[in-house]
Amino acid sequence: MILHKLSLVTNSNHTTNVIIGSNCILESLQSHSLSSKRVFIITHESLLTTLPIDINDILKNACNSDCYFIFVPDGEAAKSIDSYSYCLNQIFDIGVERGDTIIGLGGGVITDLAGFVASTCLRGIKLINIPTTLLAQVDAAIGGKTGINHVTGKNLIGSFYQPDLIINDCATLRSLPKHEAHSGFAEIIKYGVINDKPLFDVLSSQAQVLKLYNFEHNETLWLDIISQSIKNKIAVVEQDEKESSLRAILNFGHTIGHGIEALFDYNTYKHGFCVAFGMCAATYIAKRKNFITGDGAETIYQILRLYDYQHILLKPIKTTALLHHMGRDKKVKDSKIRFILPTDIGKVILSQDVTEDDILSSVAFIQTFFRGDTP
Ligand code: NAD
Ligand code: GLY
Repeated sequence: MILHKLSLVTNSNHTTNVIIGSNCILESLQSHSLSSKRVFIITHESLLTTLPIDINDILKNACNSDCYFIFVPDGEAAKSIDSYSYCLNQIFDIGVERGDTIIGLGGGVITDLAGFVASTCLRGIKLINIPTTLLAQVDAAIGGKTGINHVTGKNLIGSFYQPDLIINDCATLRSLPKHEAHSGFAEIIKYGVINDKPLFDVLSSQAQVLKLYNFEHNETLWLDIISQSIKNKIAVVEQDEKESSLRAILNFGHTIGHGIEALFDYNTYKHGFCVAFGMCAATYIAKRKNFITGDGAETIYQILRLYDYQHILLKPIKTTALLHHMGRDKKVKDSKIRFILPTDIGKVILSQDVTEDDILSSVAFIQTFFRGDTP
């Protein structure tokens, strides 16, 4: 069943069709008329048995193409130069033409990698994303940021490359571990804070249902929330695809969040949890600088508590190392770190006036917030 059909149209007139539904991959591929001679599916081998769908069967019924699976390691390790070369080696060994298609099937790691492979293979072949984590459905798979990591930092090698089709099948989320859903949910809270007070209000009022992360029993609510999140992202990306200005608001929580992710070598905290740390720190800084009222800041802390993020234990942070990592991030412009700070629910500003002292105070605050107490 397809419930929502959206589209993202860039300034250069590229259209990405975005489907949101349940058990909708076959129908979506059929209506897309996949006519490529070859389809390369980049994924993790383990997902073929974990996912509650039979992708082989779906592809057999959806197209007449020759389908080739390319398996990469699970986790952030897949976003490496080695995995990238491996994918291209496989594709060139098989043979590839401009009309062929790459499908990225998996979480944000896969959609980032598959997107970068598609954008660089023969200077760009067709790309379909089938995101299977909550984080990838609401954020990573949509908007055209692709990339892999370099030893110097995360996502430092990449491109802007828009997929032709994104299929968000809520049924695939039924096998998603709860902590992965919890991580992805932070990006949904992000949309509420930066741009969408009505969404924020739904998240607040429906917390007891949503925090079960039961994608089967509460499917309609989830489909609406996923769709609303994607609409927020589309609205921003359509105005500023290459992040020259407005798109930076999507980085709310990412400035300190990416720093913490890097500090712990990308293997301790999921991306979404780091975004939760970062949103809390940015809110503290906004309050410290009187950009947001005490009540406004408390409302943001409260939604983080409502969704149990305070139960994550944030290990002691070496602030010198954190500042070092933050200085290497892509969000640094003219040597100044750019922060997105909330001024109200649904409103943010970009500030380049955050001092080292502000950052250190906010880190001290989040160390007390994310204490890891069991509920
Ligand atoms: P991930 O891709 O590593 O997936 C998390 C885990 O879930 C993996 O072990 C994966 O195998 C497993 N999995 C995926 N789908 C599943 C399912 N349906 N059932 C059971 N298990 C499943 O992590 P993620 O959180 O999805 O993505 C994180 C990545 O996304 C980071 O590298 C981050 O930089 C990137 N990202 C990119 C953007 C962007 O705009 N391009 C935005 C946000 C995040
Ligand atoms: N996830 C941030 C962006 O897509 O810009």
